[in-house]
This record gives sequence, structure tokens and C-alpha cells, in this order.
Amino acid sequence: MEKLIIKGGTPLKGTVKISGAKNAAVAILPATILINGKCRIDNLPNISDIKLCLQILEYLGATVTYLSNNEVEIDSTNIDKTEVPFSMTKKFRASYYFIGSLLGRFGKAEVGFPGGCNIGSRPIDQHIKGFEAMGATVECEGGIVKTYTNENGLVGDNIYLDVVSVGATINIMLAAVFAQGTTIIENAAKEPHIVDLANFLNTMGANIKGAGTDVIKIAGVPNLNSGASYSIVPDQIEAGTFMIAAAASKGDVLITNCITTHLSPISAKLEEMGVTLEESDDGEQLRVFAQNRTTKANIKTLPYPGFPTDLQPQSAVLLSVSDGTSYLTEGVFDSRFQYTEELKRMGAKIRVEGKTAYIEGVEHLTGCSVTATDLRAGAALIIAGIIADGETEIHSIEHIDRGYEDFEEKFRALGADITRVTVEE
Ligand code: EPZ
Repeated sequence: MEKLIIKGGTPLKGTVKISGAKNAAVAILPATILINGKCRIDNLPNISDIKLCLQILEYLGATVTYLSNNEVEIDSTNIDKTEVPFSMTKKFRASYYFIGSLLGRFGKAEVGFPGGCNIGSRPIDQHIKGFEAMGATVECEGGIVKTYTNENGLVGDNIYLDVVSVGATINIMLAAVFAQGTTIIENAAKEPHIVDLANFLNTMGANIKGAGTDVIKIAGVPNLNSGASYSIVPDQIEAGTFMIAAAASKGDVLITNCITTHLSPISAKLEEMGVTLEESDDGEQLRVFAQNRTTKANIKTLPYPGFPTDLQPQSAVLLSVSDGTSYLTEGVFDSRFQYTEELKRMGAKIRVEGKTAYIEGVEHLTGCSVTATDLRAGAALIIAGIIADGETEIHSIEHIDRGYEDFEEKFRALGADITRVTVEE
């Protein structure tokens, strides 16, 4: 087991390069099953969720060749299994994308239930509704989702999602690539990773229109090409995490390899709080500069292009040291405030009532021993440790390794005093 030790109090200064997006990569890797040939994926983040995805591809029979830490070649020609055991799927959420991609290519799949961050109930009824609308039978028993089609295969249909769901939108897109006719997803999610998956599939020969709007049309094609290369979009949430860290530490950070339009909801909020932002003309770099204590703000998380739920814990840290009392409302999940108990131990004044956290800004947080309850909570605790007085120890950091590439190295390069140490079990 490992933990992080942070000596707080240094404003972050310098340049940080953003990695490829976790939530795009975990959809694009299962999508390679649809190709029945070779493709190259670049700008892959070197994180544990990606390693788990690649392990499942190899288990299914694909050949995975690492060309560098961030580029792989995947040959899906010899995939001969359609079952993924629960022991593999329980380790991360995105394992459920193997249902859509196996169903899409083979007309059947038996995939264990997904794991992932414990941030409230995370049903998959909308994924199932989509598969069933296309004519698949879906049975959930003994921790396994079993799905199969009849002799007609999948047939396109109109699917109106009852909730805006990233996972259901992606899974239905994956299943629909080869379906007969056209599949229309209404009330679809619009996140950058939805667009990235559609771009990847279209590059390979799919016919998907409307990704990035709330109506996506997938006209079924008989097969995809092989031999193409694709580079994953930069990670909106990693960039947002560094933006918030720069602001909270009263630092001056240049964020490179980002797409500034994806960051607009965060930029707008930070500007409202008194942070200075400078965008490069090409929209790929953003300087975040904060000299003074930020002022209070009210934030409500919403599906894209709203303020991302995956930046809710990091924002709580910034609001904890901002001047005044702020409201932070979770609008996507039914519970995502477990981490506030840890922040309170560092001196934050937070009261959670239902889906809203009332945060009374304090002048300083104080370092202590805390535990990461999930991925983004872990990122929030790192920011808290960087700005706190004294030393902070963060435990359960495996959650952080699931989603951020070279996270502490990147913070160290910005001046943070942060060390990873092995803990005796
Ligand atoms: C994806 O989760 C992300 N995970 C999450 O990132 C992110 O927080 C979330 O989208 C929202 O942006 C991956 O991409 C792997 P949803 P997902 O389906 O797909 C409800 C991170 O930190 N819902 O958009 O599971 C659901 O309960 C992680 O990187 C249903 O009711 O999220 C939630 O309230 C955490 N039925 C809302 O919809 C369904 O069938 C949105 O969930 C599906 C979802």
C-alpha cells in the first residue's frame, strides 16, 4: 500500500501538460472490438483503468502491443470470447462498455456488473432499455449481464433516455454501429468523450451524426475499416482539476494540450470568483492566475455543458478557502459528498443537506491524515494538502491512480512538495 505526504503552502507555478481523457479512452478501447482488424490509439493516459481495459481486450483474444507508454496497437481479429467475468469487470465502471461492443460485433455478450467509484446509486436501466429497444434480450443474474439477439440481429430504433446518461449514450452507440437501419438516441449526453467516441468510430467507417447535441443518429454499416490511427481528446477533468488547484493555491499555471472550449463552464465560474484566465488564440492553452483569495460562488453540477460533477469535490476545496459562504449542489448523482468529512478534519466548514453542501470559507486548512474515498475525492484532497498549513497524509491513493496520469509528478513540477511512500501493511 502507498500513501502521499504533502507539505502545504506553496503556490503552484509553471506549466502542466494535460493527458488524454480517461473517460474517452475507456470507451474507445472497448470500441476497437468492432474493428475486426488493427488500429492504433495514441494519447492514451497511462492509468490503471486503461490497463484494466487492455487486460480485458487481451482476455477476449485481442493482441495488444504497446508502442510507447501512451500508444497501443490493438488487433481484434482473433477475439473469440464474448464473456467477461465479474472478477475483471468489478474493478472499474467503464467495463460495462464491453456489453455494447460485444453485442454490436457478435450479437451476444455475458459481462459482469461494473464497479467504479462509490458516488451513490448507479443503475444501468437506460443501457438495458436501449439494447432491448434494438431487439436484444437482456437478463441480469448472479452479477452478470447476459444479452443476445434473435436471428434478425440488432435493429435500429428511437431511444429516448429518461436521464441524460454518458454510459447509456456510449453503450447504445457501440451496440448500434452495425444494427440494421438507423438508431436515434434522444436526450443523449453531450460530453466531449461522446464526441470523441463518435469521431473515432466515424474515422473507422461508422456513420454517426449529431454527437455533441442531444440527438445522435447512428446509421448501421455492414463493417468498419481496419488500419486507422486515432488520438484521444485531452482530459477536460484533469485540466479542470489543475485550474482549480492553481486558483486555490493562488498560483500561476499554464495548462497546455487542453481544449479551452471544453473548459468554459469552469473558466466562467473561476472568473466570477476573481481568478484571471488567459486563453491562447489556438484554444489549446490556458493560463490560470490568482493573486488574491477567491470570493464565494454558487455551483450546481449538471451534464455537459454544465459544470462537471467530476470537479465537484475539487471545487469544494476552493470554496472552503474562498471569502464568504457558498452553495455547492450536486445535480447528476444522488450522493457525492462522502469526502466532505475528510475536508472537515482539515478545518473546512461544510454542512451537507441532501444534494447541497453549504460551505463557509475559512482562511486556512490544516494538514492531517485523510483518506481518499474515490477518484475525484482523492484529487480534491491533494489540492487541500497543497494549500493547507503543515503536513497532509493521503491514504487509499489507488483511487487516484485509476484516473490521473503522473499526477503527483505534475504537481511536483509546479512546485508542490508531494511524496509517495510505501506503507507497511
Ligand atoms: C460517467 O459515469 C463517468 N464515468 C463518470 O466519471 C461521470 O461522473 C459521469 O459519467 C457523469 O459525467 C465514465 O465515463 C467511465 P451517467 P456514468 O450514466 O456513465 C443516472 C469519474 O470520476 N443513470 O452519466 O456512470 C445515474 O445514476 C467518473 O471519472 C440512471 O438512472 O454516469 C446518474 O444519476 C465518476 N440509469 C446519472 O444518470 C442509467 O441507466 C448520470 O449517470 C444510467 C445512469
